[in-house]
Amino acid sequence: MCGIVGYVGKKKASDFLIEGLSKLEYRGYDSAGIAVINNGKVEIRKHKGRLSNLVEELSNNSAEGTIGIGHTRWATHGEPSDVNSHPHQTSKGDITVVHNGIIENYSELTQWLKSEGYEFKSATDTEVIPNLIHYYYNGNLFEAVVKATEKLEGSYALGVVSGQEPDKIVAVRKDSPLIVGIGQGETFIASDIPAVLNYTRDIYLLEDNEFVVLTNEGVEVFEANGDKINKEIYKVTWNEDAAEKGGYDSFMLKEIHEQPKAIKDTMAGRVALNEKVNLGDFKLTSEELENMDRIYIVACGTAYNAGLMGKVAIEDLARIPVEVAIASEFRYRNPIVTNKTLIVTLSQSGETADTLAVLRDAKKIGAKTLAITNVVGSSISREADSVIYTMAGPEIAVASTKAYTTQAVVMNLLGMYLADLKGLLKSEEEAEIKNALLELPSKVEEVLNQKAQIAKIAKLISQEKDLFYLGRDVDYALAIEGALKIKEIAYIHSEAYAGGELKHGTIALIEPGTKIIALKDKMISNIREVKSRGAEIIGIAYENQEVDLSVFDEIIRIPQISTRIAPILGAVVLQLLAYYVATRIAPILGAVVLQLLAYYVATERGCDIDKPRNLAKSVTVE
Ligand code: F6R
Repeated sequence: MCGIVGYVGKKKASDFLIEGLSKLEYRGYDSAGIAVINNGKVEIRKHKGRLSNLVEELSNNSAEGTIGIGHTRWATHGEPSDVNSHPHQTSKGDITVVHNGIIENYSELTQWLKSEGYEFKSATDTEVIPNLIHYYYNGNLFEAVVKATEKLEGSYALGVVSGQEPDKIVAVRKDSPLIVGIGQGETFIASDIPAVLNYTRDIYLLEDNEFVVLTNEGVEVFEANGDKINKEIYKVTWNEDAAEKGGYDSFMLKEIHEQPKAIKDTMAGRVALNEKVNLGDFKLTSEELENMDRIYIVACGTAYNAGLMGKVAIEDLARIPVEVAIASEFRYRNPIVTNKTLIVTLSQSGETADTLAVLRDAKKIGAKTLAITNVVGSSISREADSVIYTMAGPEIAVASTKAYTTQAVVMNLLGMYLADLKGLLKSEEEAEIKNALLELPSKVEEVLNQKAQIAKIAKLISQEKDLFYLGRDVDYALAIEGALKIKEIAYIHSEAYAGGELKHGTIALIEPGTKIIALKDKMISNIREVKSRGAEIIGIAYENQEVDLSVFDEIIRIPQISTRIAPILGAVVLQLLAYYVATRIAPILGAVVLQLLAYYVATERGCDIDKPRNLAKSVTVE
């Protein structure tokens, strides 16, 4: 996890470093630190806690200099503390490093370096890196970094500076993301593009084991053997505003509202009424499909939950057996993967370590691999045989929303594509699904227009300790996602159950006043079972669906469209619900009042919507 940045130019480095880190805080926020070269000396400022602590320190003790590196941490080795904060420095000099990733062989390297007279202060795996670079340093920082990385096992994106070569940053990546920004008379490194977007749109997307040297003369990229690499510039075309909150009080709320557009963009060029579904570079022949023994959808968290939607779509439409697997489990099972298997890795970030590891293992076996991801140039997108992008735009909030609904849409497109290839898709059916998909953006708008009612209901359940989400079929998959959302950002224990399953044990927990969120479809008798035990039921039902009001305490209506697609709308309701519960928003007097209220209630309650405790956006560790 963690985020790193670096700056070489003519301006005060710390200004960019702080701004860049603020854009990367979603990657971790246990501590923040910078190192700046000032008159040939490396000066470090670092602090446990949020970036604001570091900013405060800098206001009393500024760091001058035009070259520097910075870091925002999500702790993996060693508790969040000042001493464990990055940058880390060698005990024998001033080689200074920021690191994102995990060094797996750090304890043996530490033992060895200790025997060479190096001292260690922190509990981090990172501290071996500056010491190792110092050990190999012989007047050339680039060469020393190359030699040090030969000894490192694990993942890393590194930014390295030294007072002995005060004109440069050396950087490298392996299995952790790193980009280079090329500005006018200034250059940058960062873990993610939004960090540099206010300064440049010209980016190098670094590959593993590419080394970069940034100086005032510009950027040079090298192989480990010193050969120069001519990198192509990737021009960022999305709007700067896409990475900002755009008037919303949190990225999550903004991203929830972006779903109509995200869904539309994801379908653009892929779904048209009189044309076959076009999945770009993902192409199978009928023979390949005929020979396919199985499909695995492998993912984590919310992406896994979208995978559950995918199973239903593909099995329903294409009648191919699909197993959805949690990536971190799949790696440690003995799954039946052959060269006739299709492995679909589903990941918003395209950098999730567990999902990436499954992809790599599958490739070794010779399975066909398809990535469905939101981040162009991400590791998963580059390493899979083919890729379908969800065009959701950058998702900054830790809690995934628009990535989920666009993944669910892509899952439907994949189901249609495979069904068509098998000759199973009747043209009327195809037209119905396409119509429903094309209608989806405006229907999501309709759901968003109900946020006042949802906010009101959220207030009713905001003080609960436990919640149950019930659903059947696709709604059960949605229930799982709804329960995850509320856990993540509102810190309320919640469980999702298949409606019919509750009575096989868990119904023992239901007592008068227990709050249940029930996705109503095909489940009324199960709802009655809990109602008769005193539970209070918040139902989510389609408009015009007949509802026995004596059973439901509250009802949220969602628009009715083709049944296979409509459940995606339920997800939007659940996201809104989770959002509003987290912020304990009072009933609405207007959008502005709502947003202000959300902000103050969240602050009072201590829920930080975009940075929920213990979580980070991109989980690049196992
Ligand atoms: C939940 C959430 C996480 C991610 C999971 C996978 O809101 O964001 O559960 O879905 O860490 O991340 P990606 O999709 O980037 O592989």
